[in-house]
Amino acid sequence: MFTAGNNDNKKELDAFKAELSEKDFQAFSDFIYSEYGIKMPPVKRVMLQGRLLKRIRDLNMKSYTEYKEYFFSKEGQKKEIFNFLNVVTTNKTDFFREPIHFDFLKDEVLAQHNGSGTFKVWSAGCSSGEEPYTISIVLNEYKRIAPGFNFSIYGSDISNKVLSNAAKGVYAENKISIIPLEQKKRYFLKSKDRTNPTVRVKPELQRNIVLKHVNLMDSHYDIGETFDVIFCRNVLIYFDRDTQERVISKLCNYLKPGGIFFIGHSESLSGMKVPLEHVKPTVFRKI
Ligand SMILES: C[S@@+](CC[C@H](N)C(=O)[O-])C[C@H]1O[C@@H](n2cnc3c(N)ncnc32)[C@H](O)[C@@H]1O
Repeated sequence: MFTAGNNDNKKELDAFKAELSEKDFQAFSDFIYSEYGIKMPPVKRVMLQGRLLKRIRDLNMKSYTEYKEYFFSKEGQKKEIFNFLNVVTTNKTDFFREPIHFDFLKDEVLAQHNGSGTFKVWSAGCSSGEEPYTISIVLNEYKRIAPGFNFSIYGSDISNKVLSNAAKGVYAENKISIIPLEQKKRYFLKSKDRTNPTVRVKPELQRNIVLKHVNLMDSHYDIGETFDVIFCRNVLIYFDRDTQERVISKLCNYLKPGGIFFIGHSESLSGMKVPLEHVKPTVFRKI
């Protein structure tokens, strides 16, 4: 056990913590980059050390090296990979994050939609679901004024943990404070337990959403359709430029001609050879 209950334990913890050596860190860092495209430069060593500590405790292991050996073994690559991914990914997200994209979706994309077929949106790197549920609110609101409108939303992520949270659709109540009261009532149910105020998304918000595990680094995505809109926001930021370009090019194969591609506000496509034209900052159209 690595609880710092007394001095001996504290010493043990301090000694233990110091053990993610540069060599072990490099092995994890190389793996994370080659498999998931996520950059893990040396400045992130202490962060990774902290995040792996919980896994090491849960597995009752004695050192980072023991964990590394297990992780890279045949068994570890089968059993530990998903826990590892949950630990190394950064999943920060919010409802109506970067709201100009949702205004653009409503005022430009939906306003020009001809109403035929199913309108399809992909939230690539959807984290715990706030992004696809926000899209669902916008599309459900549009359906209220255009009842014949049909849509489907695809939410994907590499982390099974966030996907399972997305499927549950339960959030701290303060996470939806940005949403107007009318829409809160329409799309969320409040928990009875007011000591821990949470909300649950109503089935109508979940109905048109499919959640799926997708590694954007894979050479092929198991998705047999093309989309009118792709959100890939605050995901590329963790990749280096070549990887970003490769991932965006691949995503473009799943975007209809004229379809819209959103990136996060701290991301850029400038100088990349991808089949997208600039519409406005962080908003692109498939050529
Ligand atoms: C910071 S969150 C962004 C969530 C949401 N798009 C937003 O903007 O609020 C980034 C998400 O990308 C996912 N991710 C990172 N690398 C990925 C990869 N190679 N394939 C698929 N998803 C990945 C992470 O698991 C995480 O949930």
